[in-house]
Amino acid sequence: MSKGYLISLEGGEGAGKTTILEKLVEYLETKHIEYITTREPGGVHISEQIREIILDKDNVDMDPKTEALLFAAARRQHLVQKVIPALEAGQIVFMDRYVDSSLIYQGYVRGMGVEEVFELNQYAIEDLLPDVTLYFDLSPEVGLGRINKDETREVNRLDLEKGSFHHKVREGYLMLKDKFDRIEVIDAEKDIDEVFSQVVDVLKRRGVING
Ligand code: TYD
Repeated sequence: MSKGYLISLEGGEGAGKTTILEKLVEYLETKHIEYITTREPGGVHISEQIREIILDKDNVDMDPKTEALLFAAARRQHLVQKVIPALEAGQIVFMDRYVDSSLIYQGYVRGMGVEEVFELNQYAIEDLLPDVTLYFDLSPEVGLGRINKDETREVNRLDLEKGSFHHKVREGYLMLKDKFDRIEVIDAEKDIDEVFSQVVDVLKRRGVING
């Protein structure tokens, strides 16, 4: 049994997960809380290599099942090498995307089926679901507007999808939150300080951090 907490961050493009994670790191440091931050797909060398294949702009002909399997493979390696050891050491693991991303992007939006993709992932995660999932909710127009303004952000294959894709992503997450009590909705259209304080409030209410 793990002693730490697994917290996933989910949301559409430009939801501000990365900025919030940076602020969270500052906060956790001042409170001397044991934590790690990591991301999917990636987080460890092998999974970062898989990430490059998945997000390569030239791989437009990737089969949906291939894509789902690659995400699950990257996930498995990341869990075994980094996430599970941190949880066993009692740390809080903040993960930028996790299995819900596959349920939504591959299962719901690409139409492979949420249940089917969950089953496929079950082989990789072996019941390791997040204790709390922070879903950063905002309209795709706002999210994509933020991405376009950020010149440091590299545009990847999935950013290039058309508007209806991003609307479906949001619809999927909002559907998923009704199924799982672990999912907390964060209003990500607010300014960054307000978004951050919603996150801290949720983590306190869920007993992840004290206060
Ligand atoms: P990334 O640049 O990390 O995007 P973001 O900053 O929005 O998290 O790219 C990850 C992309 O991969 C993102 O568009 C969501 C997608 N994705 C899936 O389709 N399935 C998955 O299981 C995961 C983890 C990510």
